[in-house]
Amino acid sequence: MDIETVVVAGATGNVGTEVVRALAGVAEVRALSRRGSPVDGATAMRGDLGDRAAVADAWAGADAVFLPAGHPDPPGLLADMRAAGVRRVVLLSTGAVVGGDLDNAVTRFNVVSEAAVRDSGLEWTVLRPSGFASNALRWVPLPDVVVEPFADVPVTVIDPADIGAVATRALTGSGLGGRSLRLTGPEATRPADRLAVLGELLGRDLRLEPEPDDVARTRMRGVMPEPYVDAFFRFFRGGEYGDSRVMSTVPDLLGRPARTFRDWAEVHVGAFRADTDRP
Ligand SMILES: NC(=O)c1ccc[n+]([C@@H]2O[C@H](COP(=O)([O-])OP(=O)(O)OC[C@H]3O[C@@H](n4cnc5c(N)ncnc54)[C@H](OP(=O)(O)O)[C@@H]3O)[C@@H](O)[C@H]2O)c1
Repeated sequence: MDIETVVVAGATGNVGTEVVRALAGVAEVRALSRRGSPVDGATAMRGDLGDRAAVADAWAGADAVFLPAGHPDPPGLLADMRAAGVRRVVLLSTGAVVGGDLDNAVTRFNVVSEAAVRDSGLEWTVLRPSGFASNALRWVPLPDVVVEPFADVPVTVIDPADIGAVATRALTGSGLGGRSLRLTGPEATRPADRLAVLGELLGRDLRLEPEPDDVARTRMRGVMPEPYVDAFFRFFRGGEYGDSRVMSTVPDLLGRPARTFRDWAEVHVGAFRADTDRP
């Protein structure tokens, strides 16, 4: 299938920018986000995926779409894409759907999007990644003592660059249609392990302090809806999501090892330096 033009939805995010980067020289890219912020190597487009009419222009004349899960009407969005001539869609879902429970709010919105993609009539691939290495950016500005929820939980964090590389294969290559791919990093680490890597790269003495569950629950209620707080507690305390098992999908598909947290941190260490170096 000849894929010349790809829409990357969520193109300014941690994963989206890596999908755009990986598509450079492979396809023409439209970078879709609500703000329509510029992205190197792509034509920026503004539109909210919650408003079908507002994103309709993005699909016209495109061959393939990279789509994050969620949004109020995934079947409607996919029908619009198909009507506009799009032939292929790659969905960014989550590893949490594997064996997940439909009354978990996070699992549910991903499962709903996955079902819509499978029923869309488009050629589809679903990506089910682990937690992202880039979640460490939540620690910016980086204090000496980082207080972290679920500090005891090991996660095979994945570098969004690996998601971008696999997405590009699925969007523009052959052989990945009709597949749901569980993607992980190369090792399971705890937050303190990842913080230690940052401390080493920055030459700082950093310490991780586990956040007690009751404190975490109250704090999280202030930043996300209650069903999402519940979802994370069900994942990491209720045993609904085991994100510590390393899968070989990334090396199998890319012919090289999956990138480590240290690989990710070496590229992004500047983001952690910015605030501490400010005069
Ligand atoms: N973090 C994890 O560990 C993890 C693991 C598995 C799956 N995921 C999923 O991966 C997704 C992407 O993660 P990320 O870290 O790349 O997110 P991110 O850095 O927050 O980026 C989100 C991107 O989507 C755009 N966007 C958000 N809402 C939109 C809308 N309604 N219409 C159009 N564009 C929209 C944002 O730009 P504007 O704000 O300008 O719209 C931005 O480009 C998450 O939403 C999550 O569901 C995350």
